[in-house]
Amino acid sequence: MKMKFKTILSAVLLVCITATATNYDEAKVGNYVLPDARVCADGSRVTNSETWLAKRRPEILELYRKNIFGRSPAAGTNVTFNTWEISTNALGGTATRKQIKINFSGTPNGPFAQLLLYTPTGKVSAPTFLCLQFSGNYTVIDDPAIAIFPVWSWKTGALAMPKNPVRGSAAQNWKIAETLARGYGIAFINYQDIEPDLPGGAGEKFGARKNFPPPSTSDWGAIGAWAWGASRALDYLQTDKDVNAQRVILFGHSRLGKTVLWAGAQDARFAAVIANCSGEMGASLSRRDYGETVDDVAKHFPYWMAKNFQQFSNHWNNLPVDSHFLISLIAPRPLFLNTGSEDKWGDPHGEFLAARAATPVYELFGKSGIAETNFPPLDHALQHDIGFNCHTGKHDVLPTDWDNFLDFADAHFMQKN
Ligand code: GCU
Repeated sequence: MKMKFKTILSAVLLVCITATATNYDEAKVGNYVLPDARVCADGSRVTNSETWLAKRRPEILELYRKNIFGRSPAAGTNVTFNTWEISTNALGGTATRKQIKINFSGTPNGPFAQLLLYTPTGKVSAPTFLCLQFSGNYTVIDDPAIAIFPVWSWKTGALAMPKNPVRGSAAQNWKIAETLARGYGIAFINYQDIEPDLPGGAGEKFGARKNFPPPSTSDWGAIGAWAWGASRALDYLQTDKDVNAQRVILFGHSRLGKTVLWAGAQDARFAAVIANCSGEMGASLSRRDYGETVDDVAKHFPYWMAKNFQQFSNHWNNLPVDSHFLISLIAPRPLFLNTGSEDKWGDPHGEFLAARAATPVYELFGKSGIAETNFPPLDHALQHDIGFNCHTGKHDVLPTDWDNFLDFADAHFMQKN
């Protein structure tokens, strides 16, 4: 009896340990069976793009709303835009700069976001990158005309003017001059303006979701809120004649990589999506036990997700979706997944396999996904309708990544009229 108890106890301990320890060994990923995105709830199989769009796509969207990211409200009628600065002679005469204040509530209570937009001089209707980013817009480039506003701090949980702000301190993540020179506009918004990302989800009461109290729109996570904000920035871009609103490419890194996938999935006005190192609950397969897992996200970032998401912690096989479904929701629009060889937490291989698994959906539209069976050599970008690259290096956006993003954009938006 004693023996038996001990055996049970060690079995329980083993389960606890394996459920929490992070696996970085390809040999220990384990077996899993991916659901087929093309099989409808009634068991029928989608064989053409019309049925995909009319029947299966809405089903998958609903699965994501119910179980993963929650249900975002419609635009809301109160969002307002105030273009408070325009310079037609920015960045040494190469760009028009606009700074636009977005008020998400239309009341003096906000929240507010600052959208920074550069478009190439002399070009109307430029295809434009909309970049979600992590801090004040003054960090993206050393441009003294960018206004510095208070920013939210994870450490203090408060909104305060940045101490000793350094203009262009995150400039290494962007190639603004090259982007403009190649004929694109580029816009930035600090995701914390949409909703602060604070420990324990404390940001909810200060951000976009505060204007949509339950029960009218209960249970959308912070990722849903940031994605909703990206769509509101696009609402503005649609009003600006310097931007080609049919060719807005949404970019985000890491948690913002997850966000742009969800934004692109819901809002088909985004012409293309670039998700950088989006990892778990982004483009990486959840059923693969490698790097960050569903359990990690459920435990550390519950407020990013719908409440229903918690039930899948330790029950990954019960997920009604996996990341190839999220990718499929963006079909047939171009999607680029960028990863990093040292970003094992984000599981680059899991992103590659998800892109492959989503490929049959792209093929329904006559588009090319990832037909390659082997993970490509590092720094060798696959430039299909689904693009994929794994850079040498860490969880980051590198200047060379932007070369790939621009080539990807060129292939889809510069050679066609
Ligand atoms: C954490 C989290 C990731 C996320 C990343 C980020 O590492 O576990 O899921 O992508 O933060 O956004 O920086």
